Amino acid sequence: MPSVFKTLIACALLSSLAVSPTPAREVSARDQVKAMTRGINVLGYDPLWKDPAKARFQTARHFKIIKAGGFDAVRINLQAFSHMDASNQLDPAWLKTLDQVVKAALAQKLTVILDEHDFNDCGADPAACKPRLIAFWKQIGARYKDAPDKVVFELLNEPNKGLTDDVWNAWIAELLPVVRATNPKRNVIIGPAFWNNISHLSQLNLPEGDRHLIATVHYYLPMEFTHQGAAWNPDTPKTGVTWGAPAERARMKADFDGVQAWAKAHDRPVLLGEFGAYDKGDMASRAAYTAAAAREAEARGWAWAYWQFDSDFVAYDIKKDVWVEPIHGALVPK
Ligand code: BGC
Repeated sequence: MPSVFKTLIACALLSSLAVSPTPAREVSARDQVKAMTRGINVLGYDPLWKDPAKARFQTARHFKIIKAGGFDAVRINLQAFSHMDASNQLDPAWLKTLDQVVKAALAQKLTVILDEHDFNDCGADPAACKPRLIAFWKQIGARYKDAPDKVVFELLNEPNKGLTDDVWNAWIAELLPVVRATNPKRNVIIGPAFWNNISHLSQLNLPEGDRHLIATVHYYLPMEFTHQGAAWNPDTPKTGVTWGAPAERARMKADFDGVQAWAKAHDRPVLLGEFGAYDKGDMASRAAYTAAAAREAEARGWAWAYWQFDSDFVAYDIKKDVWVEPIHGALVPK
């Protein structure tokens, strides 16, 4: 072959390699959890999704700050249903934004959890949610099938209300094959019904044969402390509730031990996907709670993701451009 053709072919090959993503390797669920120990929830309530020009979160910049701040993972909260058309097709502009977000997070070597976060809609009206959730995973599965193994899927944040244990278990059995059709080995995160509450973990049925699953729970107990004064939780209006007494710490340990017993019995690694205390509590208690939950999770070999970077439960003050130090210091000790 004339050398000019050889050069042309080599160039074409090189440029195609440069644009094609690193194909997904097979990573065990346990190794995936090890690599994503310290995480943070991002972007759930950012104007970015509707209009990138209005974004608070500047992807390149803030993912870099997150990485430098000692985190290994981001859990991206996707309220995708409001970006679907009447036939449940995701808006191409929204998908483009998502691609850019994922790329920017991967560039910082962060594990990227794609968390479908339309849990309120799904709990309130499961029948309307189901086709949309299936359509979401069909499209996202196909789109990210060749993405690096650092991209992990989470089927649905906090199934609740109409998504009872039984209904949710049946959905898992239906949704997983949709993901597996395009992503046979990608790790997928699934938690129990009742808002991923630890008390419903024993009701969660994960398909025994699928070893690429990570179990997740959220921990906000006691709600009277973590959700004090939170407008969306009318059950906990009283503020001034503190945390940190020996009995409160003992309760957290016992709760986490219960999760660990389940995880051992079912041989599943664990992600504590949300925890934290709302901004109306006193900062010393919030920091104590946050540090305790993070350390107790780490002591049991779990990964964790703090709720959240921006909006409320704030870990990073975007306006002032600084970490909220008591919270950050609690998450990532100096
Ligand atoms: C919800 C937030 C809420 C948080 C704590 C999350 O899953 O998306 O709206 O603030 O849980 O209640």
